[in-house]
Amino acid sequence: MFEEISEEIKNANKIVFVTGAGISQESGIPTFRGKDGLWRKYDAMQLATIDAFHANPKLVWEWYNERRMNIFAAKPNNGHEAIAELENYIDVVVLTQNIDGLHQRAGSSKVFELHGSIVRIKCTVCDYQNDVITNFEQIPPKCICGNMLRPDVVWFGEPLPQNVWRQAMIHASQCDVMVIAGTSLVVSPANTLPIYAKQNNAFLVEINPERTIMTSDMDYSVRDSSARVLPEFLSIFKS
Ligand code: APR
Repeated sequence: MFEEISEEIKNANKIVFVTGAGISQESGIPTFRGKDGLWRKYDAMQLATIDAFHANPKLVWEWYNERRMNIFAAKPNNGHEAIAELENYIDVVVLTQNIDGLHQRAGSSKVFELHGSIVRIKCTVCDYQNDVITNFEQIPPKCICGNMLRPDVVWFGEPLPQNVWRQAMIHASQCDVMVIAGTSLVVSPANTLPIYAKQNNAFLVEINPERTIMTSDMDYSVRDSSARVLPEFLSIFKS
């Protein structure tokens, strides 16, 4: 695997990874749209929108609390760890749609969380925010100012954090190689990042057991899991 593109990869100065739920699937965290995906069991519009939160904060919080416990029990897998180790060989930036923090726990130092973080909690009114990895007794939890707390994640219909998105576009436009791993590329604007990279003549590599809507735009596409493939991608730099 990768033999025919190893020169292209090794000659790169900067590699940007665009990752999605699939890269955490082998850490035991379900994807959204796969066969066992979360949106198969739950209605995204009932749980992952600002309106849903204000209509039924207790239900949304119960769902996020369940996901928080699952994510905190999960560990980075070989895919996360290979991306982190790659930093020893080349300039690596991770643009992730994931909110689980596993890239950071694996040791990646330049991670941009396009859709926020389930670890970070913020107040719905004041500017309080903090990383919280303990369980909340009271649901929905309240801020010291008396207002409701919420996960600092981007819900459907909400804008991405502007500073994060601006940085993501810049990194995507400056890379020689972009590796798109574990994402269906159906959610915008994250799914425009490969277009920014291509406009800068980047080499696009896709890692996904299934084809995606952008597979035909990729320069190289691997039908396999990221936990299996990314260590082989890393070994290109070790040989
Ligand atoms: N390795 C690599 N890819 C995998 C693996 C694996 N082991 N298992 C599944 N996949 C692929 C699936 O084939 C699918 O293409 O990961 C992709 C997961 O797609 P989605 O479930 O749509 O997740 P994602 O692309 O991250 O969704 C984007 O949608 O619901 C919102 O905010 C949520 O950030 C999320 C966004």
